[in-house]
Amino acid sequence: MDLVGRIWRSSLGRKYIMAGTGALLFGFLIAHLAGNLQVFGPPDLINTYAYFLKSKPGLVWGARLGLLAIVGLHVMSAISLSAQNRAARPVPYGGVKTPYAAPLNSRTMLLSGVTIMAFVIYHLLHFTALANGINGVGDFRHLETTLPTGVKAHDVYAMMVLGFGVWWVSLAYLIAQALLFMHLSHGLASMFQSLGLRSHTWWPRVQLFAKVASIALFVGYASIPVAVMAGMGSDHAKKAQHSLQHAVDGGKGGH
Ligand code: HEM
Repeated sequence: MDLVGRIWRSSLGRKYIMAGTGALLFGFLIAHLAGNLQVFGPPDLINTYAYFLKSKPGLVWGARLGLLAIVGLHVMSAISLSAQNRAARPVPYGGVKTPYAAPLNSRTMLLSGVTIMAFVIYHLLHFTALANGINGVGDFRHLETTLPTGVKAHDVYAMMVLGFGVWWVSLAYLIAQALLFMHLSHGLASMFQSLGLRSHTWWPRVQLFAKVASIALFVGYASIPVAVMAGMGSDHAKKAQHSLQHAVDGGKGGH
């Protein structure tokens, strides 16, 4: 316990915590994207995958709690390190508030981080909690499909194509993904810097890796709302919209 306290009390320790938790979150983003890209296959593909995850509550809840702890540590070390940096330089250079040498994305790390958090809260309400009234479509809980195995499951494919068919939802996701790109392109490079890789040989490679990885994630994530806006899955979306309407009318009729 004392070791944990000692790591937290040293600023280098907090930098390591930030780099380590950042690396784990980067790993989550790659795995999540790989899962989501299955939307480009037939609807059964992503629906079977989502059903598989839902049928393993131990795995899902373990991952959720782990993610929550990782995000908590990442945010706490960010706040603490930035407060420490401000305290070390109470008078801004030449009275100018922003350090002029820092690139735009490093100065906006806290702002992009907070916006990404706000996006994740909306995203969880949108696609995980299936909160009614925030998706611009209808009650996603009524979207049901039959998998090739004959099992009834949630139609995640329909949820995605209906969800991103709403222009302001797609726009909000694209803005959040652009901020995530900025956050990652700086954060990934800083992560290696915290681990000591800032030599003449390594630094250009680290920066190239950070750029390429963050662009790849941006293109991957953005491709989903963009493809839906361009018409992907529109037939499936029409049928699903119809069954949602049916569920609502059926519900009214039942009362
Ligand atoms: C086009 C982009 C995205 C799509 C289509 C998408 C899709 C989804 C779906 C369908 C779920 C619900 C899984 C389920 O409960 O069955 C989900 C959950 C989640 N997403 Fe995304 N996602 C996207 C981007 C992101 C981004 C950028 C982040 C993080 C910054 C993120 C973080 C999460 C988290 C933390 C969960 C909760 C996992 C859980 O607890 O079940 N997603 N996403």
